[in-house]
Amino acid sequence: MTKIKVLFVCLGNICRSPLAEAIFKAKIEAKGLSSVIDVDSCGTSNYHIGGMPDSRTIANALANGVTIDHRGRQLSAADLDTFDYILAMDASNHTNILRLPNAQQHTAKIRMMRAFDTEGTGGDVPDPYHGTEKGFQEVFDILNRSTEQFIGYLEQEHGITRVSAGAKAVG
Ligand code: 4NP
Repeated sequence: MTKIKVLFVCLGNICRSPLAEAIFKAKIEAKGLSSVIDVDSCGTSNYHIGGMPDSRTIANALANGVTIDHRGRQLSAADLDTFDYILAMDASNHTNILRLPNAQQHTAKIRMMRAFDTEGTGGDVPDPYHGTEKGFQEVFDILNRSTEQFIGYLEQEHGITRVSAGAKAVG
């Protein structure tokens, strides 16, 4: 069957969205869901195309046991056609996604990441780029909670049943 395709979006694609992608990927691998869900990330800007994630994000992720493997890329209109779930890190990203020419056909799939946070539902994942180390850990904690909850939502929404050999989606 077709895999469920998830895209995390921030501004630069070097801090928040590649971290969301890496945490989400680690979780779906641990839960045996890699055969049913695909994940990627990108930025609304062209600032860091081809670039490595921010060194502070990489270090913070590693300290939390998560490895990041991603190169920056910019969001395109084709992404809105391709992906099933497009999760914006903040309200500004959300607005910029909706500016793409085909966005009106896809509004239902464009959501806020923190709509899935068990704490502070609906707000922004704060941009840590100009902040301190504490900010990176705060972002990690928010994304760890939100991606966990989001996976639970996907499992329910798509009737995914976990089995020892992996997982399958029905419906
Ligand atoms: P991100 O953080 O959107 O979480 O990747 C930022 C990274 C770089 C810039 C802004 C935000 N920048 O202005 O270069």
